[in-house]
Formats: sequence, structure tokens, C-alpha cells
Amino acid sequence: MKRPIAYVAGTGRGIPAKVMTNHDFAALGLETSHEWIVERTGIVERRIATADETTCSMAVTAARQAMAKAGVHAGELDAIVLSTATPDRLLPSTAVDLQAQLGATRAAAFDLSAACTGWIYGMTVAEGMIQSGVIETALVVGAEKMSAIVDWKDRSTCVLFGDGAGAVVLKRSQSGANKGILSAFLRSDGKLAELLWRPAGGAAVPFSETVLEERSSYVKMAGREVFKHAVRQMSEACDRALDGAKLTGKDIDVLIPHQANHRIIEATAKHASVPMEKVYVNVDRYGNTSSASIPIAIDEAIERGRIKPGTTALLCAFGAGFTWGSMVIRF
Ligand code: UT7
Repeated sequence: MKRPIAYVAGTGRGIPAKVMTNHDFAALGLETSHEWIVERTGIVERRIATADETTCSMAVTAARQAMAKAGVHAGELDAIVLSTATPDRLLPSTAVDLQAQLGATRAAAFDLSAACTGWIYGMTVAEGMIQSGVIETALVVGAEKMSAIVDWKDRSTCVLFGDGAGAVVLKRSQSGANKGILSAFLRSDGKLAELLWRPAGGAAVPFSETVLEERSSYVKMAGREVFKHAVRQMSEACDRALDGAKLTGKDIDVLIPHQANHRIIEATAKHASVPMEKVYVNVDRYGNTSSASIPIAIDEAIERGRIKPGTTALLCAFGAGFTWGSMVIRF
């Protein structure tokens, strides 16, 4: 096992107050039901941001909590890595808004786009920046306003997603310390991009009347295909992160998979030989918050005593791209 280079010094989350239950979809005229959504996904409710709540504002809340718990003030941040599929605007990044609002005057700041796997990608990038000696302390955030990009007329996608942000402060490990990131694994396969994507609204197909009419700037997903790939790749990702840390499923105290679907979570846990009592699940309360889902779950798991000093956690994610990845962290 490698000596940890970086450890999690503090965590936080920014969750909108507004709850939308499965029953609330009836008011939108959608042909769906609480029973269908719970049976197929495990989702009971999700949080929806108001017009005033942005990807950045949720990130600010999460970041301030993480910094307070880490005892780190804004001037000590060397880098802000913000993973999002829902930037507040396309240029410049949402990370620079976060940098400005925190007053992180010494920090580099950039957005990272790897969909639901983005926060694990971001943690790996930040760890590498610490290892290279460029930085000492990073803020790694996953923040998503999915309600702004889903098609509220498409029952096959809009019931699945929710809004929120999670953040951690990542610091250089002390020499001899054994807590921190023990392994990481990242992969992608862009040949499968069209199974989960927003076809229009970027530089190739800019916004137009046609885009609006065809609703092609909203998220489109081939759910059943994505499901199969998610189970396969999250399982592979767990194996690779465990191999990298020279651990097995039995050594894991808590498994925190990306929260997209309860059935995918169960299949992943089974493959990794981690019993469901050791799996942290909150998809029932938040739905799929894309790259925010793992840092939100970590923050809650710490608050609820499921992660304590010495806990070994296995994290894994899968999302649009496709991208997938995993990480073992000792807290
Ligand atoms: O975070 C990135 C990764 N994303 C994911 O991991 C999502 C992966 N996919 C899934 O979680 C599941 O595939 C879904 C939850 C999206 C769908 O579940 P499924 O069991 O794969 O259902 P399906 O897509 O095969 O659809 C079954 C039926 C269809 O009707 P027919 O063709 O059998 O008549 C759908 O039209 O369910 C219908 N359906 C719905 N019915 C009621 C689709 N959405 C809904 C809905 N309410 N909201």
C-alpha cells in the first residue's frame, strides 16, 4: 500500500431546503407513480433548488462547512477543484465564482467535467497537485443543479435527479501518518457518450429555436443500457481500488457508491463482498445528485458516526461519458 499523500481534513454539504416527493410529479401531469419510482430506483424524494439557489451557492455552503471543520481559512486554499455537469454559465467557470465568494485569494480554481464520477476525478487531480508540490491544501467540490438540465416532461429521466453540493478539504498528509487516499482508479469510454448526454446547447449544436422545440438541450438517457454498464463498471472499479490498496471487501468499513439507483448499489455491494449494513445509502432522500452524491454521503456518514477516525471507506462512481472510478480512503 502506498503512503498516503493527502487526507480529508473536513467535509460539508449544501442541500436545498425544498423537498420534492414522488407524489409531487402528479401535479406536473406526468404518468408516473410513487410505487414505480421506489421499486425501480429506491428514490422517495429529492431536493430541488429555488431560482435563487445556484450551483455556486450550494457549493459555497458546502465549502464553508468543510473549511470550518478542517480549521482552514480561505486564504490557505491553494486550489479549488469544482466538479459539475451543471455550471452556472459556460464561461468562465463556476469554480472562479466560488473562489471569489470564499475570498480564496491564493487559490487556482477550475471546473472539472466528468459527470457523476467527477468528484473522484477531482480528488485524484488534487492529490496529484499535492504530490507534485504545486499545492498543499485543496478544496474539492461536487455541485449540481440537475433540476436545471432535466426535461420535466420526460418521466424516464426527471424523476431520477436532485440538486445539492458536497465538499472536502484535502491536505498534504503528515509524514508517517497512515490516513488519507490509499488508492484510486479512473476510466472512461467516450464511444458510449450518446447513451447519457445533452445533445445540444454546446459549441457543436448551439442553442436555437430548433433546439428549444426539440428539447435537445436536456438530459437524454437510455436507462436500461446505462444500468447494465453502471453495474459492470462500478463492480470493476471496486475491484481495482481494492487491488490498489491491497485490501479486500472484508477490510472495508463503509462502502459509499454513487447514489443513482438502489438496485445498482446492491449489485455493486454484492460484487465487492461488502454486506448492505456497511453500505451508506441516501438515494431515497436525494435521488441522483451526480458528482455531489459521494461527498454529500461522506459528510452525512461522518455526522451519523458511520465514518470515524480510522474508518476505511471504498468509494465508486459511474456516469455520463461514460466515466467511472473508485477510491479507497482511510479517515
Ligand atoms: O448517474 C448516472 C448513471 N445513471 C444511472 O445509473 C441510471 C441507470 N438506469 C436506471 O437506473 C434504470 O434503468 C431506470 C430507473 C432509469 C429505469 O428502470 P428500468 O427498470 O431499467 O426500466 P425501463 O427503462 O426498462 O422501463 C420500464 C418501463 C417502460 O415502459 P414499457 O416500455 O415497459 O411499457 C418505461 O416507459 O417503465 C416505463 N417508465 C416509467 N413508468 C412510470 C419509465 N420511466 C417511468 C416512470 N414512471 N418515471
